[in-house]
Amino acid sequence: MQSSLLLTLTACFVVFHGTAAWAADAQVLQPRVPPDQIDAARSVKNPLQSTPESLEKGKALFEGKAFCKACHGADGKGLPKDLELKGPLPRNFTDKKWQATRTDGELFWILKNGSPGTDMAPFVPLVLTEEEAWQVLLYIRSFNGR
Ligand code: HEC
Repeated sequence: MQSSLLLTLTACFVVFHGTAAWAADAQVLQPRVPPDQIDAARSVKNPLQSTPESLEKGKALFEGKAFCKACHGADGKGLPKDLELKGPLPRNFTDKKWQATRTDGELFWILKNGSPGTDMAPFVPLVLTEEEAWQVLLYIRSFNGR
């Protein structure tokens, strides 16, 4: 009797934790672009090639004038310890599932509009030109699976 109760409790615990982890994951993978704009956003392609030069420019912007590093971390993992933000945490760019879910066009939309309701602000055109935004996005893609 005792041990079957323990077994049931253990099973509940495992199921609950599995679900919580899945829910967090699913929340990150949800599209950020509103449904009425997502097809248009997804059709936009990065006009730049990933070359050592363009990646170097993207890195310099990410760590310098665009201060992405302040929230997303130099390693792209998005969890600087001393950060105080309300709402969702900055994205972990090394997450392969997230990288595969988003198109370049959706990420470009985020740089123009921010992620509504979060601390991710718009950067184009105030901080970055469109060309610079594409350079930063090439750099963000380079975190994939790092
Ligand atoms: C003030 C902190 C902060 C700064 C600075 C910042 N971000 Fe973010 N960023 C966030 C947060 C928080 C999220 C998560 C928003 C969400 O869950 O929708 C995010 C999400 C993102 C996403 C993912 C959106 C998606 O579709 O999942 C991208 C791409 C991104 N940021 C790029 C950048 C770039 C590039 C820069 C620099 C130009 C930058 N961020 C600067 C806080 C920041």
